[in-house]
Amino acid sequence: SLVLCCGGVAAGGWAYSRAGTDTVDQVGFARPLAVPPLAESRVDERGRRVFDLLARDGRRDFHGDGRLTRTAGFDGDYLGPTLRARRGEQVVVNVVNRLAGRTSVHWHGMHLPARMDGGPHQMIRPGATWSPTWTVDQPAATLWYHPHPHGETEDHVYRGLAGLFLVDDDREAALPLPRRYGVDDVPVIVQDRSFSGDGQFRKTRNMINAIGVLGDTLLVNGTVGPYLDVTTERVRLRLLNGSTARLYNFGFADDRPFDLIGSDGGLLPRPARLTRVQLSPGERAEIVVTVRPGERVTLRSTAPDLGAGFLADRFAGGRDRFDVLQLRAADRLTPSPAVPGTLVPMERIDPDAASATRRLEFAGRAINGQSMAMDRIDFAATRDTTEVWEVVNIDGTPHNFHVHDVQFQVLSVAGAAPPPELAGWKDTVYLAPQRPVRIAMRFTDHSDPDVPYMYHCHLLYHEDAGMMGQFVVVEPGQRPGRPPAHSAHG
Ligand code: C2O
Ligand code: CU
Repeated sequence: SLVLCCGGVAAGGWAYSRAGTDTVDQVGFARPLAVPPLAESRVDERGRRVFDLLARDGRRDFHGDGRLTRTAGFDGDYLGPTLRARRGEQVVVNVVNRLAGRTSVHWHGMHLPARMDGGPHQMIRPGATWSPTWTVDQPAATLWYHPHPHGETEDHVYRGLAGLFLVDDDREAALPLPRRYGVDDVPVIVQDRSFSGDGQFRKTRNMINAIGVLGDTLLVNGTVGPYLDVTTERVRLRLLNGSTARLYNFGFADDRPFDLIGSDGGLLPRPARLTRVQLSPGERAEIVVTVRPGERVTLRSTAPDLGAGFLADRFAGGRDRFDVLQLRAADRLTPSPAVPGTLVPMERIDPDAASATRRLEFAGRAINGQSMAMDRIDFAATRDTTEVWEVVNIDGTPHNFHVHDVQFQVLSVAGAAPPPELAGWKDTVYLAPQRPVRIAMRFTDHSDPDVPYMYHCHLLYHEDAGMMGQFVVVEPGQRPGRPPAHSAHG
């Protein structure tokens, strides 16, 4: 159900920012931004918050010209509702697969037991229901969910299967930040697509660079050419790069500064005043921008910095600038409090306490020369230990690095201290060619010698092609088991 909305977003229906009264829309910003509905939930007799999520095929007229694109989505035709839970809550998600083929649903950025993770070992057959449950135990953050079937993740995500999972906590709630969902706290899921003449998604891979699919049209929460009516002085945008391969370098057309308040795993210790924030596939950023009454401000992505020797236009297939979203400020704006100077404390992980150090080399669709194998555990981490990993892209193709279960801290990039956008909790980080990224993380509670977590390149074509590995978390002295070559549900 589509709800035309002029205030908050009720659970259940997709909401659109109120259509403007003036009809002189810029050609590029002709449609109100769709806002994913908050998923409905109930609390069961055991006190668990229960969600239902149904993956299904769909159709969507993205351009308003009657051409129906074949898509897939959760509870709808494209993308899915925003799940939301508080730290400390136990959640259950009943995921029903109504797709023609099998899939899985991974909770990207979530700290949870491996068998609940939704990776390629937790496949859901067509017609089946998978009901993972876990206790949310991490700081407030903008997380997301998407399928993770080995070899098919790009296809499933490209068709539209993805959504947000917001974690709330008391610390975030105590800060004077914009948090009215769909009003001054707005998800911005950015994806690039190409369309064929009859309106179907076209997956043309950029084989010159072997990066994957690079589209020429942006979908923002599934909307082509969106604008957002802003009614408050400040608006918080939760940016997700939900694309399969493209990087974005987000900023505003007039170069106005904004406050970066959060990264993948939650709020930063203090806001960083920036004019650009670059996100590779899977990364998130929360920003707060100030607008003046009556003005129109364009969120724009300019050429990303891919690292030395990489020409942005080669990467982008000639296209490196995209207008993402127009903010249309009302003539009278509700005052918003200033962004506080400090946000949340962040305890630094001590790299000297690391009990293991690993080096992961990304090259040729493999990590350390090995292509992903379902029945091979690449290494075991021990519960309640710290590890330091040096992750390096040695083949000159853009890659990034994502690890399941944990949020890490970036110690250095090519030997230098991380910039502000990499100084908070992260689960995904861009790997510029030949620039080693050192990260530190702690493995806690969830150990299981038989069920692996994944780490991989989040350029999904690379992930599908084998640039992925598996690790387990074990008890001290325990040896890793051997997972099945094919998932039991296959
Ligand atoms: Cu967002 Cu292993 O994935
Ligand atoms: Cu890659």
